[in-house]
Amino acid sequence: MKKVMFVCLGNICRSPMAEAVMKDIIKKDNKEGDFLIESSGTGAWHIGEEADHRMKKTAMSHGITFTHSAQQLKEEHLMAFDYIFAMDQDNKKNIHYLDKNSNYSKKIHLFRDFDPLGKRMDVPDPYFGGDQGFEDVFAIVKRTCEVIYKKILSEEL
Ligand code: 4NP
Repeated sequence: MKKVMFVCLGNICRSPMAEAVMKDIIKKDNKEGDFLIESSGTGAWHIGEEADHRMKKTAMSHGITFTHSAQQLKEEHLMAFDYIFAMDQDNKKNIHYLDKNSNYSKKIHLFRDFDPLGKRMDVPDPYFGGDQGFEDVFAIVKRTCEVIYKKILSEEL
């Protein structure tokens, strides 16, 4: 069982989108029994909330429906999961901060380091912007999750 955690700030926009898209890719490949996919936020403001309605609308327009309950990333997650993907560089810094003794550094990756169209970049936070921002996040997440999925399957990652 491969365990993958996506992490953003609020766990209501970007990381739930990555979770939903990755689950969709895995389902279409009939590999649901082989993976555990979750998402979380470095912040606590939205704990227990559904994903942002604009994010759900965007996902739905691409045939993906999901339910969600936001959670905050905890140190236990760092131990339990095999791969931790930060949606932006601030998130990554905060994850490393949670990993006080640097026990889990090797598991912590910047999500867009696997984007086939551009490395070392942030998934832009769409929360304070318009609908196009959510569409952009979907496109980034979709192409990047496909790469990550293949790398995990082939044990390149
Ligand atoms: P996310 O977006 O990190 O992609 O879930 C945000 C959601 C909420 C806030 C910021 C970003 N906020 O400031 O409440």
